[in-house]
Amino acid sequence: MPTLAIIGAQWGDEGKGKITDYLAEDADLVVRFQGGNNAGHTIKTGGEVFKLHLLPSGILHNGRLSVIGNGVVVNFADLVEEMEQLTSAGYCMDGLRISDRAHLVMNYHKRQDAAEEAYRGAKTVGTTKKGIGPAYQDKVARNGFRVGDIFEEELFMERTRYNLRLKKDLFKIMPDAGTCECTDETFRKKMEDWRSRFGKYVCDTSVLINDAIDGGKNILFEGAQGVMLDTDHGTYPYVTSSNTVAGGICAGAGVAPNKIEKVLGCLKAYTTRVGDGPFVTELHGENGKYLMEKGGEYGTTTGRGRRCGWLDLVAAEHSARLCGFTSLAIMKLDVLGGYRKINVCTGYKIDGHIVDRFPASIAKLQRAEPVYEEMDGWDDLGSAEKMAKKGFDALPENMRSYIRFIEDRLRIPADIISIGPGRSETIDRRKDWWS
Ligand code: IMP
Repeated sequence: MPTLAIIGAQWGDEGKGKITDYLAEDADLVVRFQGGNNAGHTIKTGGEVFKLHLLPSGILHNGRLSVIGNGVVVNFADLVEEMEQLTSAGYCMDGLRISDRAHLVMNYHKRQDAAEEAYRGAKTVGTTKKGIGPAYQDKVARNGFRVGDIFEEELFMERTRYNLRLKKDLFKIMPDAGTCECTDETFRKKMEDWRSRFGKYVCDTSVLINDAIDGGKNILFEGAQGVMLDTDHGTYPYVTSSNTVAGGICAGAGVAPNKIEKVLGCLKAYTTRVGDGPFVTELHGENGKYLMEKGGEYGTTTGRGRRCGWLDLVAAEHSARLCGFTSLAIMKLDVLGGYRKINVCTGYKIDGHIVDRFPASIAKLQRAEPVYEEMDGWDDLGSAEKMAKKGFDALPENMRSYIRFIEDRLRIPADIISIGPGRSETIDRRKDWWS
């Protein structure tokens, strides 16, 4: 039963795309289980850079089964674009499978997302405006469309009429949303188009995945965003609308908890977050800008500059506990090269008390001051590829101390060390991921 999950341990953008692509090489199935095309996984392969949003990273390994699970919300119009971009680069879509239970993101969800943000005034969440929140709202409110519904035209049309009426009323109080007019004919045409484009990929993916598990295949679960953006466990309300924790796999892929064997936590050597919300270790002004430029910290989906700061082990411990990480992949260590001193946050000072557990209260987080451990830095690495070939022991001594500090604190081995965006700039200390 070789199953392995890759989960972001921070606020997303930890480099999960690179690691998923790396481990997908030996996977038989790669499965997305939550989120939608708010995600952006940048993968550098064969000298080319790809930005995947909805398609599982396995799609870059031609023929690999790449599953969009039931917990994902799917925007068909955007998926068409993503698929066309890859097919024109020579990749084939034969391995794609889409759950008949996954929910659809409609055009009105996108407009609702933008309008809700405008309605919030100064208290925005800073969403990607891809309609993800509204699509999940409709799912929970039992108004959503599921992928399998496109084969049931009359049921779909009945729900369409109801939803359009509902949105029309809602949009009256949200002037930025525009109107919600659409004829039956337009929707019928849309459905026909979706059936002809996607029909062949749609199936019960829970059955597919579980059969593959029972057959001893290698299954990789590809998390999107990060634990700190989880609806329940993240910095609510500054979160995404799905369960990004490892437990999200059970509901979002239709897999029992005892079938999830290994959980790899992806942890960037420093912290970033896009959008609004508390960020205790944030570096402001020139210091933050320096890290943003050095790390190329711009959103894959929105192009927004990411807020940057020091590594926060209080948040990382929260993630590790929630997900049961069995290994860590420490990412972008090369970016910290050149700092004389590096800070790592090991506690928060809140109202005069030192705490080492991540608090639920946003107000407390906003008052929290980071408690830092100062560590010695290391020089810029030069050729990361050569360094990676030489292995862990050839890394600068202070970088190794930094890694050991994280391992000791979290009590999890750092099995992957990433010192550059390419596959060859990776040190894999485990290698036998599927045994
Ligand atoms: P939404 O998922 O578009 O609703 O956005 C909610 C919050 O999650 C915002 O702060 C976004 O910036 C953040 N977010 C969503 N997807 C990602 C991602 O893939 N990486 C990092 N942040 C994300």
